[in-house]
Amino acid sequence: MNIKIRNILKKKNKSKIVCLTAYSKNIAKILDNHCDIVLVGDSMANVLYGLEDTHKLNLDTVINHTLSVKKGIKKSLLIVDMPKGTYNNKKKAKKNAKLIMKLTKCDAVKLESNKKNFNIIKELVKSKIPVMGHIGYTPQYKKKFKIEGQSSYAANKLLKEAKLIEKAGAFSIVLECLTPNSSALITKNINIPTIGIGSSNQCDGQILVTDDMLGMSGFYPKFVKKYAILNRTIEKAVKKYTRDVKKGIFPQKKNFLNGTKFK
Ligand code: KIV
Repeated sequence: MNIKIRNILKKKNKSKIVCLTAYSKNIAKILDNHCDIVLVGDSMANVLYGLEDTHKLNLDTVINHTLSVKKGIKKSLLIVDMPKGTYNNKKKAKKNAKLIMKLTKCDAVKLESNKKNFNIIKELVKSKIPVMGHIGYTPQYKKKFKIEGQSSYAANKLLKEAKLIEKAGAFSIVLECLTPNSSALITKNINIPTIGIGSSNQCDGQILVTDDMLGMSGFYPKFVKKYAILNRTIEKAVKKYTRDVKKGIFPQKKNFLNGTKFK
């Protein structure tokens, strides 16, 4: 087993697992110094491409962004989200996951559960492709946002789903937008790490979309803590630049490329 994955597994019940998303090299390079896991999420569909949902994102786009991210990664476990429609049968899933692994040299793929695709995970794991599962609010399969696991019946159904994903061989599972009780129930009753997003602190680790936590995306639901407000910082810089260009203050001599003096 990949040593990075073994190290993630060892953290269960010992220390929290830190994860964030990246879509390009410069951000990945910063995350790599701090995160256990960097995910090239299909959230890039909304965040980068301004699409309404993740449904039309294609494999080439995800692969190209991963090639960029990979250039910034030395230590973190690099996981790639398989876009919708690229893993809907065993043959297709295997072909596409192998392609992702071969071209990007990532460590693992993530796929969303549709409550039926456990055999796809099993097939990938059998082919030595490490898989992260994803349950709860799964944007590829659900149109409407809903908090998941609110009743004990719903929480137990999610637990059953998590157990089937574990049994299929996944090395970890994202829990998206689950109640604290259902997150705790799953985290305590499976042996692989749970990574929460909008699922309280009752998980083995946490993930957020980096653009959200940096205050760049404009998407700030309750579960996102803004650790910076970069859109304001960027706007300030752009305003200053605009003023300088209009006033002729930029560029100055020190920005010229040669020492030629013009009269
Ligand atoms: O696409 C993504 O960024 C994700 C995370 C939110 C878990 O799946």
